[in-house]
Amino acid sequence: MVIYEELKKDHREVLALCDRLIQSADASSEQRNGLIAQIRDALIPHSRAEEALFYNAIRQEAADKAEIAHAYTEHMMAETLLRSLQVQGVVDVAWRTTATKLRDALAHHIQEEETEMFAEAQKVLSTQEAEQIGAAFVQLKPHIEEQGFMGTSMDLIANLLPTRFAATFRKLGVQNGQPQ
Ligand SMILES: [Fe+2]
Ligand SMILES: [Fe+2]
Repeated sequence: MVIYEELKKDHREVLALCDRLIQSADASSEQRNGLIAQIRDALIPHSRAEEALFYNAIRQEAADKAEIAHAYTEHMMAETLLRSLQVQGVVDVAWRTTATKLRDALAHHIQEEETEMFAEAQKVLSTQEAEQIGAAFVQLKPHIEEQGFMGTSMDLIANLLPTRFAATFRKLGVQNGQPQ
């Protein structure tokens, strides 16, 4: 499947999970925390694999580099909201406000990705390349799921760096005792 279809599938899934969380007023704390964990497991591997494979593939040739930088910023913002949600859990009444903010932020990000970014990518990637990136995306995601938040934060930074610096940064992370 081409990368665009893989990304869209994940996008629908994470938005549906956010909707379920927002509507979970009658759920127990365990059920709600379970949903927050499901959002995390859907969002984090998606974002890291998307950065490593999709953003990196188009960023060298894309005419609008600011758009990719903007998308990275939105990943960071979404993860900050997710962390607040995990901390608030269910004891704090603010969880619903945060969940709604996260849902809206993701809906905005996804809309831009599926319109502007996909259009940009289709200019620089052949269908065969889009299929290869799609296959690599499916292979990479389960590896990211095994990592904690710290590991994926290190990867977020590494994915922002030019390829030749990213390798050195990843090695530094390992030396400091961070998972890769
Ligand atoms: Fe995405
Ligand atoms: Fe994204």
